[in-house]
Amino acid sequence: MDTQPRATAPADSPALESLPVEPLLTSEFDADPGAVYRRLRRIHGPVAPVGLMGVPVWLVLDYREVLQVLRNDTLWRRDVRHWRARAERRLPPGWPLLAGYEVRQTMFMDDEEHRAARQTLHTALRPFQEARSPQGWELRASVAAYADELVALLAAETGSAGFADLGAQYTRPLLLMVTTRLFGCPVELGDELVMDLWRMLDGGPDAGAATARALATMTRLAAHRRARPGDDLTSYLLLADPSLSDEQLGRELFMNAVYLNDITGNMVLNTLLEVLRGNATVRRSLSAGQLGATVDRAALVNVPVANLCFRFAARDTPLGNYWVRAGDIVSPSAAAAHQDLLDLGSSPIVGPAVSTRAHLGWGAGPHQCPSAARELGGAIVTTAVGRVLDHFAHAELTLPPDQLPWRSGPVVRGLRLLPVRYELDRSRPAAARHRPPAPHLSHGEGTPTPDHHAKGLLGALRRLMFRAG
Ligand code: HEM
Repeated sequence: MDTQPRATAPADSPALESLPVEPLLTSEFDADPGAVYRRLRRIHGPVAPVGLMGVPVWLVLDYREVLQVLRNDTLWRRDVRHWRARAERRLPPGWPLLAGYEVRQTMFMDDEEHRAARQTLHTALRPFQEARSPQGWELRASVAAYADELVALLAAETGSAGFADLGAQYTRPLLLMVTTRLFGCPVELGDELVMDLWRMLDGGPDAGAATARALATMTRLAAHRRARPGDDLTSYLLLADPSLSDEQLGRELFMNAVYLNDITGNMVLNTLLEVLRGNATVRRSLSAGQLGATVDRAALVNVPVANLCFRFAARDTPLGNYWVRAGDIVSPSAAAAHQDLLDLGSSPIVGPAVSTRAHLGWGAGPHQCPSAARELGGAIVTTAVGRVLDHFAHAELTLPPDQLPWRSGPVVRGLRLLPVRYELDRSRPAAARHRPPAPHLSHGEGTPTPDHHAKGLLGALRRLMFRAG
């Protein structure tokens, strides 16, 4: 709730548009965003005006202020229609980030509409959330099986020892397979979707057209599952809210696909990096607890969503050393907030005891990643990391950690690739299935059938993997 007294910015406080701003996305930011955040903090304090592709934006840098923004959705709105510069048509024509913000789905809704859309997603994800439910078990078993298939493919292509990019040859195909499985794409649709999400995520010259095609594909998928419901998220979303049109459902699926691919992929790769960094021999015996702690540590050091979605001020309010005016845009930076938190943790006043679980990897407040999605995302990350480490007798980075190539955008900072030299553990066949014990299936259908999507998908992925490599 917004409990602040009403206030108006003092006339002598500088307006965002009147301040000189330094562009955020520079080669310095690409190489070392931490140095940029530090400098901005030194000059401006906890909140700094920056230029984002020619548009002035308040970048929120300090942990306390970022939390303040994330937790108060009455003051900090998500609907892009609150943005004054947009309403007054002051944005540069074709500003590249606007199209995404104009896609109306859960993330960019407020109030009751937002709560209802979130509840729908929550209800639809619930069957997959728990490892003990048949759907939850089946999905986790599929993730493990896909991981095994991909390692087997590596062994078939490059032998039991060799070089691999754990981004292009493992993480990304794995998550695309999980997406087609979870969303219930028929194989024909799956191949098409896999190709377009890949192009979209790579942001190449065809990305805009691929995004439109992916949205259209998701809309077709929605129509398909409306006609032929299955045991998948698309069908459960329709069950949870039958009033969803195919277009609206397509938009929701599209946004979930971005989280399930790019963002979950960042978390997998960053966690693998955390394990591999400085460890010539991979510790294959990471317990579930250790793996969970490693995921948290990786999320703190390299947060999967570096700068969270924009918020728009509902009214004038002080933030950091500035007054933000009604309709101004703010970008809460989880990456900068983590830097602030880690600096605090190393301060002799606070001590070294900052919990890694204080990370903002899942966001915070009313728009944080829904608990069912967190549960599912976390399970996918630990399975993906655990399975590949299980198969490796030895793995090491082929580049020093500080020379790994990162892709730095306005929202995400993710590894472009994670090149390793590996040796497979010869004592275990790469494609061996280590399925978790099946839960009691109450609906009398017996053990879930083997995944019929995997074979067709693997064909498409093989083409993609080795073309991208
Ligand atoms: C494991 C990796 C994941 C990470 C690190 C992650 C992270 C996040 C973060 C940081 C936000 C908040 C964004 C903001 O406030 O600006 C968010 C929101 C969201 N996430 Fe996740 N997510 C993950 C997986 C998933 C998955 C698997 C799904 C769906 C299947 C999902 C669905 C969503 C949705 C729908 C929202 C919007 C919630 C709202 O606005 O109310 N996420 N996620």
